[in-house]
Amino acid sequence: MYEQVSHSLLNKILDDLKPEIRKEDLRHFYTRLGANFYAIYSLFHHLYGQRDDFEKQMLRLVEVMAKQYIRRSDELKAVDVARENDHNWFLSQDWVGMALYTDGFAGDLKGVKSHLGYLQELGVNMVHLMPILKVPDGASDGGYAVCDFREIDERVGTLEELGELAGAMRQRDILLTLDVVANHTSNEHAWAERAREGNETYQDYYYIFDNRDVPDMFEETLPEIFPETAPGNFTFDEQMNKWVMTVFNEYQWDLNYSNPAVFIEMVDIILFWANQGADIVRLDAVAFLWKKIGTTSQNEREAHLILQLMKDCSQVTAPGVLFIAEAIVAPVEIIKYFGEDAVIAKECEIAYNATFMALLWEAVATKNAKLLETSIRSLPGKLDRATWLNYVRCHDDIGLGFDDNDIVKAGYDPFAHRRFLVDYFTGVYDASPAKGQPFGRNHKTGDARISGTLASLVGLETALEINDPAAIQRSIDVILLLHSMIMSFGGIPLLYYGDEIGTLNDSAFLDDENKAFDNRWMHRPMIDWDKAENRKQHGSVEQRIFEGLQKMIAVRKSTPAFSDYNNRELIDTGNPHLFVFIRSNPFMPGNNVLVVGNFDDSPQSLTLSDLSNRGRFEYGRLQDLYSGESPSMFKDQLVVPPLSFYWLCHGGLN
Ligand code: GLC
Repeated sequence: MYEQVSHSLLNKILDDLKPEIRKEDLRHFYTRLGANFYAIYSLFHHLYGQRDDFEKQMLRLVEVMAKQYIRRSDELKAVDVARENDHNWFLSQDWVGMALYTDGFAGDLKGVKSHLGYLQELGVNMVHLMPILKVPDGASDGGYAVCDFREIDERVGTLEELGELAGAMRQRDILLTLDVVANHTSNEHAWAERAREGNETYQDYYYIFDNRDVPDMFEETLPEIFPETAPGNFTFDEQMNKWVMTVFNEYQWDLNYSNPAVFIEMVDIILFWANQGADIVRLDAVAFLWKKIGTTSQNEREAHLILQLMKDCSQVTAPGVLFIAEAIVAPVEIIKYFGEDAVIAKECEIAYNATFMALLWEAVATKNAKLLETSIRSLPGKLDRATWLNYVRCHDDIGLGFDDNDIVKAGYDPFAHRRFLVDYFTGVYDASPAKGQPFGRNHKTGDARISGTLASLVGLETALEINDPAAIQRSIDVILLLHSMIMSFGGIPLLYYGDEIGTLNDSAFLDDENKAFDNRWMHRPMIDWDKAENRKQHGSVEQRIFEGLQKMIAVRKSTPAFSDYNNRELIDTGNPHLFVFIRSNPFMPGNNVLVVGNFDDSPQSLTLSDLSNRGRFEYGRLQDLYSGESPSMFKDQLVVPPLSFYWLCHGGLN
């Protein structure tokens, strides 16, 4: 949009740019800056307009964007232009991700490079490298307490090796996702160290207070993220003799985004990683970016404005780069991280679908899809050009973040139901084969979350211990059923490393004093490559899971109805054990896929004539895309075996 005030400021900024910037060929940069400037100006003004140095800060921001544009390689600039031309590229069913710890997966960055063939064998073409930046030697919250935003942890490699990995991935059409931990730094970061030495400029990078007055006001409404290991949200620093806001662990200092210098530093860092070859930047803990006394300081409007501003700035310099919002918050809040009051995504193009993940686990425990269906139905529609990251497990705990109203609608009492789920997955509940551990139990609120690997949570560990072939098969069926859901729901499925070979809980973390207090480490494994070799041995657990997933990925990639154009219709079947939806093909109307998941231990039926006018599923031969076979039927009733799924299309159309 053209608007005089911002435009005259833009002219002034362009005149004031340093000669070394002005002499460069910045054609694309200037067009994009012109297009986004009004938005950038308005957001920046909203956040920082009251400051005397507002114009100086705006100039600084533009300089940062321009300098990073100048440093962006021609190869990456060409990727930007190609993606501008094919702007829906990431909605395709072609993408399948995996999140992995570099050291746990393959020792170091070189190791990851040498295992790209394994990922391709499975069909994975987007890799999220969990944080690899420099962290303290001791506890570092799995890499989320960063001491230097531009240096790689020497235990996993160097910037040069990352460049080589990124290059090798690009050659193989594998996308690279890297973290930017935007909400906090380690207390060993240079900014924190300078603050600790008394430097006021850097003290202003954080929330630092002389006494408990403000912290006490905050504490009245701030929840605790790690209640057992890091109670409270402020830590006393003896050297400064002051209190620092530390919402996560005491060694993670929250950044102060009411200071524009912090925002500009973070834009610079995001663009730095974009220039190292990241296709996607995962913005960690975005719900926490803005703090306000009297609130939970999560999902504040300003947190959204900061993200919009980051997106607008990033689009000027590196428009091909996508953002993932890591906001593990209430269902109605998560969806806002695509942006509100918009048609296409304007904050992050991708968001973790934590709601779907938690609901899938709920369906496993209850063996029915009542809450799953109710909750998905009550979610507001998603924006265009925005997509979910659908996952079953990740490096974090499983939070039971359902909406209480939905729990009631599904016929349960919210408190008792959450308690049942924690008991079920921690094996307290008698009939459960799960071997999880409670995480973050809060004795004040009764809340708890769940740790454990996928395989151990679905009972594979127990089944192997008692050497029960039927129980082993049952666990494998659940693993495949859960993955069939994330592959077909709409969005990018994100596998978690080790799950593809049924990795069990690992208790080694208990021997490490920097990890022993955090049982999320039980599901952050070191891959046993000998065990992975078993995937080639017919009938092994590893082979049955690996090949099942491999086949699912291949079928997903060749099924356009699985691309994400908000082309999903939930079906109320009247059978609570089934979760059923239709994916319509956006390119070939009529060529739809009926997805059916049975969460029960017994076979279930679905009356196809109830689906009339929904893609002619009731007529003629149906074919399951996954098995390539016709599903079993009784008259017009589809018979769905226990803990299994179908991806059905009309036989005549394929
Ligand atoms: C994110 C990460 C989690 C970490 C937290 C604090 O939620 O996924 O592992 O503990 O941020 O950095």
